[in-house]
Amino acid sequence: MNIIHFEKIDSTNNYAKKHLHELQPPVIVYADIQTKGKGRFERRFISPYGGLYMSMVLEWEEPLLNMIVPVGITEALKKINIDASVFWPNDIYLNRKKLGGILIEMAGKISIIGIGLNVNSRIKDFPFGLRKKITTLFHETGKQYDITELMVSIAEEILGLAWKKEYLHSLYTEKLSGIGEKVRIEVPGEGTVDGIIKGVTEKGSLLLDTGGSIKEICSGTIISS
Ligand code: BTN
Repeated sequence: MNIIHFEKIDSTNNYAKKHLHELQPPVIVYADIQTKGKGRFERRFISPYGGLYMSMVLEWEEPLLNMIVPVGITEALKKINIDASVFWPNDIYLNRKKLGGILIEMAGKISIIGIGLNVNSRIKDFPFGLRKKITTLFHETGKQYDITELMVSIAEEILGLAWKKEYLHSLYTEKLSGIGEKVRIEVPGEGTVDGIIKGVTEKGSLLLDTGGSIKEICSGTIISS
């Protein structure tokens, strides 16, 4: 797999999209700092030095990527003794705080899998408003991690899951945080929905017990739990 590295860039996903015609997938684009890191729903993803900011560019049109990628990341973290969980749909949580996020974008038949993880960064590197909500591997363990090793391990886990799709639903469910908990979800175009998390469908939609019926939610954000 080709690997392209930048010390600083606006966003590795944006770079991959802009330069798609020059890239020969499979490629990983990664950077030490992003000045305009993007999250889901056009949110910002704060990307200080010490984090892992990567975009895997693959010729892989896979509807289950939304489950494969978070499972791949948690499996790679397990190998360095970090027991992270998936916060639906695909945030990575550790000790109930956000450790990282995933933004998958499609460009024709090409998937751009953006992954951001707070690795060696410090809590003080993040804006005040985020400091209670996020965490970093260094903050949790006091250890420094090799970012490129972790990046390669994540890429290997993600690609390896292509051959283990029959286990994907159970692997994802095992890692899913909040089963049995009451949550409020913001659903684009629908407002908010309250209910208890029951699990996910085979495609990764959230199953929410809304008191009387089970609602399937395919896109949204958990805003309180
Ligand atoms: C989220 O938390 O909503 C998703 C965050 C995804 C961040 C990664 S960092 C690498 C890639 N480049 C971006 O601009 N975003 C993704």
